[in-house]
Amino acid sequence: MSFYNFRLFFYSLLLAGWFISCQEKEQSFVLEYPDYFPKPVYGFDNNPLTREGFILGRELFFDPILSADNSISCETCHAQAHSFADHNLTFSTGINNQTGLRNSPAIINAAWQPSFMWDGGVNHIEVMPFAPITNPIEMAEDFNNLIRELNEHPRYPQMFREAFGNPEINSQKILYALAQYMSVLVSKDSKYDKVRTGNADFTEDEGAGYTLFKNYCAQCHVEPLFSDFSYRNNGLADVNGDTGRGRITLDPEDNFTFKVPTLRNISLTYPYMHDGRFRNLRQVLDHYSEGITAHHNTDPSILKSGKNGMNFSETEKQELESFLRTLTDYTFISNPHFSN
Ligand code: HEC
Ligand code: HEC
Repeated sequence: MSFYNFRLFFYSLLLAGWFISCQEKEQSFVLEYPDYFPKPVYGFDNNPLTREGFILGRELFFDPILSADNSISCETCHAQAHSFADHNLTFSTGINNQTGLRNSPAIINAAWQPSFMWDGGVNHIEVMPFAPITNPIEMAEDFNNLIRELNEHPRYPQMFREAFGNPEINSQKILYALAQYMSVLVSKDSKYDKVRTGNADFTEDEGAGYTLFKNYCAQCHVEPLFSDFSYRNNGLADVNGDTGRGRITLDPEDNFTFKVPTLRNISLTYPYMHDGRFRNLRQVLDHYSEGITAHHNTDPSILKSGKNGMNFSETEKQELESFLRTLTDYTFISNPHFSN
């Protein structure tokens, strides 16, 4: 080999090495979010985020194989077009047409959530899917049965190999893959975000609504995720004895408190509240304005301007609603990477 040829050979080796490392980089994924978001709670410590792990999680999320009779997928109750809440149903329909007593929440920015469910009954994203998969009125599946079905499937063993390095399928890997998929569902492209990054301006109504929002709502629906993830009572009358957080902690001070939900994509996720009692945003604003039923755990900030609530004028309600609509992220609900 002449010196020149050797050099060429050497450079092509270098080039090949560079190419392989670029490809490897493409396999691992970073969670992208704006600099005004806090650091996510979920750090992928034992479950490194990879493209293949995310793709496997997405496949599982949309697959009814996760339910006992292969009729219900996660997507049945968590649809992308509705910010991964249900299709505007008060109560979701699970296996054998059964329904529960709580409204299906949106799944967005889950990597920032310290706990899950309206009552915070699940405290880690990696165990979260266990609840719906085994719940007798949601998917009613047995993990051994699910693992057997996945092993017999024409594609899954290969997908598990690609995601985790070997084809063994177990419950931990199923939960890890779903945690990866859910974590990547980051909503950050609403008009509100464009205003924050200097790429849009609020209209006069939206701006007035934002000021009201900061005065009356933002202490619980904390920006930029629009929740502080605490449990509060926002003055809803008890209709079915659901004591919320109190059921988990058994502390009477937690009775009838529920997790403060995010308001991102709120225009897409009606009906509202843990039991879906309000059909539209106007009913929600009427509630905060003059529909409060005080309970001894009702948060004092809810009673701000009087014992029935915040007493908004008609104009103020319209302004607040205009602002809430700036939280809709159309890029998120049409992102092809999130869908099957
Ligand atoms: C039959 C309808 C149904 C199915 C199927 C279903 N869910 Fe849910 N999901 C709900 C309801 C209802 C809640 C709220 C329950 C509660 O708070 O008690 C919920 C809550 C959640 C939450 C918590 C969100 C939050 O902000 O606290 C996550 C995450 C979630 N589901 C993910 C999944 C995944 C993953 C699957 C599939 C493995 C799935 N769900 C299947 C109805 C469903
Ligand atoms: C004291 C804390 C607190 C304040 C202040 C507050 N909220 Fe809430 N908000 C909550 C809690 C808690 C819930 C869930 C209650 C439940 O379902 O039982 C909620 C639910 C909602 C929902 C329904 C979300 C969904 O996904 O169903 C909307 C919309 C909403 N709030 C808007 C507002 C607006 C607008 C204001 C100001 C006018 C406001 N909130 C003030 C705590 C608060």
